[in-house]
Amino acid sequence: MTDVRSLLSQALSSALDAVCPGHALTVPSVSACHDARYGDYQSNVAMLVAAAGNLAPRELAASVAGALRLEDLCAKVEVAGPGFINFHLRPSRIAALIAEMAADPHNGIASAANPRRIVVDFSSPNTAKAMHVGHIRSTFLGDALARFARAVRHEVITDNHVGDWGAQFGMLIHGYNTRLDREAEKRDPVAEFERLYREVSQESSRNEETREKARRELAALHAGEAESVEVWKKIAELSLAEFEKLYRRLGVRFDHCLGESFYNPSLPEVVAELRRLGIAEESEGAICVFFREDPVLKDAAPMMIRKKDGAFLYATTDLATLRHRAREWRADEILYVTDARQKLHFQQIFAAAEKWAGAPGNSLLASADARLPRLRHIVFGSVLGADKKPIKTRSGDPIKLADLLDEAEARALKIIEKKNPALSAEARRAAARVLGIGAVKYADLCQNRNLDYVFDWNKLLALQGNTAPYLIYAYVRIRSIFRQGGIAPLGQTLPPPSVLSHDAELALAKKLIQFGDTVHAVLDDCRPHLLAGYLYELSTRFSRFYETCPVLKAAEPDRGARLLLCDLTARVLQRGLGLLGIETIEEM
Ligand code: ARG
Repeated sequence: MTDVRSLLSQALSSALDAVCPGHALTVPSVSACHDARYGDYQSNVAMLVAAAGNLAPRELAASVAGALRLEDLCAKVEVAGPGFINFHLRPSRIAALIAEMAADPHNGIASAANPRRIVVDFSSPNTAKAMHVGHIRSTFLGDALARFARAVRHEVITDNHVGDWGAQFGMLIHGYNTRLDREAEKRDPVAEFERLYREVSQESSRNEETREKARRELAALHAGEAESVEVWKKIAELSLAEFEKLYRRLGVRFDHCLGESFYNPSLPEVVAELRRLGIAEESEGAICVFFREDPVLKDAAPMMIRKKDGAFLYATTDLATLRHRAREWRADEILYVTDARQKLHFQQIFAAAEKWAGAPGNSLLASADARLPRLRHIVFGSVLGADKKPIKTRSGDPIKLADLLDEAEARALKIIEKKNPALSAEARRAAARVLGIGAVKYADLCQNRNLDYVFDWNKLLALQGNTAPYLIYAYVRIRSIFRQGGIAPLGQTLPPPSVLSHDAELALAKKLIQFGDTVHAVLDDCRPHLLAGYLYELSTRFSRFYETCPVLKAAEPDRGARLLLCDLTARVLQRGLGLLGIETIEEM
């Protein structure tokens, strides 16, 4: 589909070359205007070039604007403020763009300029423990980012790096062998494992004998003794089956679920290699990586990769994991989606990886000319309760995801019953599921991920405001227009709009053609909330359009044009919500 921003950018570039030969700027940047009064798109290029060359910005802007050849695309080009160049698109071109977008199977989402292979490491809960709020956010965010990356045709590999190995298994296996409640295990295995761990670890702190038994179990597991391995497997399997239920409910899927244990056999060799390459060294009996030259990391403790007693650590596993993804999967980029508490951990992993990749003879990369993948830690803030403290249940326990989703569906059901009592029981339940789960996901994803947010049932389920129910309802409303008119929903079969004359039509159309750009903007810095904000704005513009412009009752050619706008809005809402991992329904 025609890319308006690059057309404008190219035109600016030629105009600049004409009026200011030898300027140093490469690609003039163009962005959509936030305030429609200024125009549809704007550029600050004249200000940048003027500043670099000691010229008067407004005058330069005026000469550049005068040299632009854009009569076809723009009805008006203006210079504003300190030297912005503002563009107003021609309504006829907007109509043509809408037609193009409607016919495009991707609805205006262009392919990435350089498609990459991106690994998304997200969710990654620990076996034998319920997912906590941090895992929930990681699950929503990671799943959405994978969907966005696929939408622009990157190759995406999703990997659930579950914590299924570690010192806690000594206590767990001991607890499993001595005090398992089989009934409880059947009802809620993860809760039962949590109880076992809690009890054994409490007892261990008082009782030398328990401590010793747990220690022996851990050693037996590490030595690969069949009985211990079997219990460990059982615990992992039951926990994963429990997680899988949640993922299915959430519509989240993974290409791989290579937990920490998968890398266990390669840890000794990774440590040996890092020592041989001079990246890790012995320090007080342990093996550590020091970052003495790193301005940020030099003041933190070194990164330990083997303890004095020979045990390996979380960091060791992450280095082995990175090698697998770089070497076997040939990843170009890896996103690690975890909460901000792991910031130092990943800074150290990334810094160690730089050293490792730079060392001749390393096994990290597949070949000497291969490059280290781009490594990015995608952090997020906390979810707060009404008291502005990290969210907890009334009894002070962490919130369980399954309970949260149950409550969301129950509350959504009440809202739907009130809104449309005529709906069949089955349709009501289906709608409650989509609305409830969608609302919880959306409440999370519509926030700038770096910020904490307050979890508030009334707000996230409201039918007004920046919520999933509002957006889903906008979609439902459009679908019902088509049902009422007895019109098949396929936009491609509608004639392209020859006219868009009403203000509200134009405002809606201008927002629609920004969809593809917004999807790309999300990926620049992994911020799905930019699309949420876009969809909300799109819906409010749709509302205004629908209030002021009759659709089914309008005469041609308006009727056809408006139906096309309706249909395209519905498709963008559906596709956009889909990128956030949120489904739509046809009726509610
Ligand atoms: N299991 C870890 C936790 O619960 C998260 C793992 C994140 N991924 C990674 N490669 N370290 O905190």
